[in-house]
Amino acid sequence: MRTRIAAILMSVGVLVSATSVNAEGNQLGQQLFADTCVACHGTEGKGDGPITQYLNVPPADLTVISKNNDGEFPFLKIYQIVDGRTGVRGHGNAAGAMPIWGERFSREIDTGNVPFGAELYARARLIAIVDYIESIQQK
Ligand code: HEC
Repeated sequence: MRTRIAAILMSVGVLVSATSVNAEGNQLGQQLFADTCVACHGTEGKGDGPITQYLNVPPADLTVISKNNDGEFPFLKIYQIVDGRTGVRGHGNAAGAMPIWGERFSREIDTGNVPFGAELYARARLIAIVDYIESIQQK
């Protein structure tokens, strides 16, 4: 129970500091990305992960999001795509090809009596991951 509460507090810390961490500082996002995204999107996020050959829809190259958006990283939109519960998806015709991470993350933890604990945990993870994606954008 103690460690769970510690994990939640850490997550809240991430929420607060997410906008100010740089690539080196965001080891959490990097680790989460390595754990959950590289199978499809590849170690460098270029969409060439090892299980790509088994997918009908190719995973997106996550390093060109800013490039394809006039040099701006659309943080909220990407957050919503990764969350998957908001109705915002990646490329329209490929809806459903990406797992609904918000749902999965919030199911992963039992936060006991902490109000909205699982939801806090899920959202903090999402922010750390999207922050990491922002840090790997090609200039
Ligand atoms: C099972 C394979 C798979 C895994 C695992 C996966 N993705 Fe995806 N992802 C896809 C596919 C396929 C697409 C393209 C189709 C779509 O957008 O639905 C995609 C699209 C995206 C997009 C949209 C990019 C754009 O330019 O519109 C983002 C952002 C993204 N993924 C992030 C992530 C993150 C972050 C993780 C890890 C938490 C992750 N993906 C894990 C398969 C995967």
